[in-house]
Amino acid sequence: MRIFVVGYGVVARSFIDLLEAQQSVLYQQQGLSPRLVGVCDSTGAAVSERGLSADELRAAKESTGTVAGVAGHGVRTVDAAQLIAECDADIVVEASPSQMSTPGRSIENLKAAFRTGKHAISVNKAPLAAAMPAMLELAEFNGVQFRFSGTVGGGTPVLNVARECARGDEVTMVRGIFNGTTNFILWKMHSEGLDFDTVLKEAIDLGYAETDPSADIDGVDAATKVVILANYVLGRPATIGDVKVEGIRGLPRERIEEAAQRGNHLKLIGEIGEALSVAPQEVPIGDPLDVPASLNAITLSLKASSDITLIGRGAGGIETATSVMRDLLDIWNVIGGRS
Ligand SMILES: NC(=O)c1ccc[n+]([C@@H]2O[C@H](COP(=O)([O-])OP(=O)(O)OC[C@H]3O[C@@H](n4cnc5c(N)ncnc54)[C@H](OP(=O)(O)O)[C@@H]3O)[C@@H](O)[C@H]2O)c1
Repeated sequence: MRIFVVGYGVVARSFIDLLEAQQSVLYQQQGLSPRLVGVCDSTGAAVSERGLSADELRAAKESTGTVAGVAGHGVRTVDAAQLIAECDADIVVEASPSQMSTPGRSIENLKAAFRTGKHAISVNKAPLAAAMPAMLELAEFNGVQFRFSGTVGGGTPVLNVARECARGDEVTMVRGIFNGTTNFILWKMHSEGLDFDTVLKEAIDLGYAETDPSADIDGVDAATKVVILANYVLGRPATIGDVKVEGIRGLPRERIEEAAQRGNHLKLIGEIGEALSVAPQEVPIGDPLDVPASLNAITLSLKASSDITLIGRGAGGIETATSVMRDLLDIWNVIGGRS
């Protein structure tokens, strides 16, 4: 199976390393022999029919600043969509930045894959937040597989478990903590009595938050996950405009203290119920959603049986790379071919 990867950052490199490390197991256990035929970053690409190795990509990136530095295989272009359309890949992995305000580029990348008969895996949330119903429809129309399990919960298989729960029962509501950065901030504000700005600075210094933390603290990142769950688990054709969003930017410490006096912790909760929302809510101390630090947690309410809560790390390069691997195997099993 020939693979083209868009992006060469934390997730893409972890995935490429994992692919190489598991090469023989994948062949022995699944009959799958993956070959990396293209990788692009923000300034160029490396393309090779014979396959690219993790070592040559890493060396080129380190010495030239771009994967286009791979000797004899470099392409100086920023047009990933054109490369995708023209390459001889079976599957495209979209692992470029989730640019929520400008999702057009990643949407074009996925469209280029679908229109040219390539399956796709996206860890990039932007195209799903902006146009998930249309993306699902286009993949189906072109008869290709589309997976995105790394977009919610990192390596925790939230989407797969939620979909599984929905079989044979009805998921009536989903509530959860979908953003580790904001959970870390609220947890620290409570446990150490610190104010918002102090904890945000610590979160940035520790690498939990981006230098521009807007998508996290304004609730946009959590809202994208609400959209993905609404579409995938509850079959509701939503986009980010359908989610009522309130973040935690500048949240006064008194809100946390007042909640504690009532026996609650304040959490940024994403909810898929009658409506779709993200907002700070009080959660009883000891509730399954009362998770510490940067953990994510998600409670599925089922019509016939009782609630199920899943807790795990919501991000991380290797964790997210394992979800891409699961998606890859899933697609391999669905198409049932041998490479
Ligand atoms: N990190 C996580 O834990 C995690 C978890 C779940 C989902 N995700 C999602 O996974 C995606 C990748 O995350 P990451 O942490 O790996 O990001 P990252 O480390 O910032 O890497 C992003 C990569 O994309 C490349 N890129 C930027 N603009 C591009 C363009 N126009 N065309 C092609 N490539 C482009 C960058 O190129 P340069 O190398 O030239 O800068 C870089 O190689 C994001 O959408 C993120 O939201 C990440």
